[in-house]
Amino acid sequence: MLTSRSIARVVGVVLCATAVDALASYPDRRSVLGGVVGLGVVPPANAAVGPAKRLSDGVSFPLVSFGLQIYDDERARKYTLTALECGYRNFFASVLAGNQRGFGRAIRESGIPREDIFVCGSVLSNRARGFDAALRATARGCDENVAALGVGPLDMIMLDYPGPDAESIRGQWQGLEEMKKAGGVRSLAVSNFSPQQLDVVIKDDGKPSVNQLPFGVGYKPETNRRLLEENTKRGVFVQAWSPLRVVGPTAKAECAQVGQAYGKSPQQVALKWILQKGASFTTQTTSKAHFLENIDIFDFTLSDADVARLDAAS
Ligand SMILES: NC(=O)c1ccc[n+]([C@@H]2O[C@H](COP(=O)([O-])OP(=O)(O)OC[C@H]3O[C@@H](n4cnc5c(N)ncnc54)[C@H](OP(=O)(O)O)[C@@H]3O)[C@@H](O)[C@H]2O)c1
Repeated sequence: MLTSRSIARVVGVVLCATAVDALASYPDRRSVLGGVVGLGVVPPANAAVGPAKRLSDGVSFPLVSFGLQIYDDERARKYTLTALECGYRNFFASVLAGNQRGFGRAIRESGIPREDIFVCGSVLSNRARGFDAALRATARGCDENVAALGVGPLDMIMLDYPGPDAESIRGQWQGLEEMKKAGGVRSLAVSNFSPQQLDVVIKDDGKPSVNQLPFGVGYKPETNRRLLEENTKRGVFVQAWSPLRVVGPTAKAECAQVGQAYGKSPQQVALKWILQKGASFTTQTTSKAHFLENIDIFDFTLSDADVARLDAAS
């Protein structure tokens, strides 16, 4: 089971104990750049990650995130440094991508103050059945994230998938809560949770701050609408995964047409639509031009008519 001592032990590998003790006063992350030194990671002077959302637990969450895909540690390091250079400050480093070490190395080497970067790790414990087994698997996953990332306490930890039944899900959630109590993380999130599965873990004194879901223009429009409503009603903020990949050819053509009026690419329109729907996204790219393009979406606003047109796209 995860205890203050076990978290402190793992965190202590990479941080001194006083940093763990200091978590009570862990500063809220800033959504704009701080000073940048080291490894030549110098973002353009006007670079910014854009607005952030105040989550239900009070944590500030930048709306634009770089989610690392499955590639090796060295490429994870390289793309993370590029993302930092382009102004990204929110990162989803899924355990499933298998490159948390390379990601963590980039964060440490960048010279950017740790408190200016939002780091979300993830736990895969959905195969464990029953409360105790799910709790143990989740606690182990939490410890492993902290050790692999090597950036000290995390900003967010996310359950990648819900367990097979309500008791298992309660065990998973308990594992996250213990990590938070022990000072290993500030905000607790889930992914691929249905509204019913959210209700299993929502309590008076806490709930998932974020639910990461497949969400995007033209992707199952009815499901999109219903899930967004259900999550918002519960005070759970939606982060879209694969926000570009889920956009099919017809919806992409709609985005392209809409984009002409604003001088924006179909991808920029698709990402902006997500923000205007009241959600956020984690996207990935291996191209610097795309990194810059995907964050350059704060100088235009889709009209209500264009949002409605994209709502109807399929
Ligand atoms: N929780 C879950 O169950 C779950 C499931 C799937 C994915 N995810 C997360 O979601 C994140 C994003 O996933 P994803 O890669 O599937 O989806 P994505 O970000 O929607 O799509 C990425 C693809 O879009 C291309 N792209 C990005 N920006 C572009 C632009 N401006 N113009 C043209 N093409 C562009 C990329 O190619 P280039 O490299 O050429 O730019 C890449 O092929 C991942 O990090 C992953 O961890 C979570």
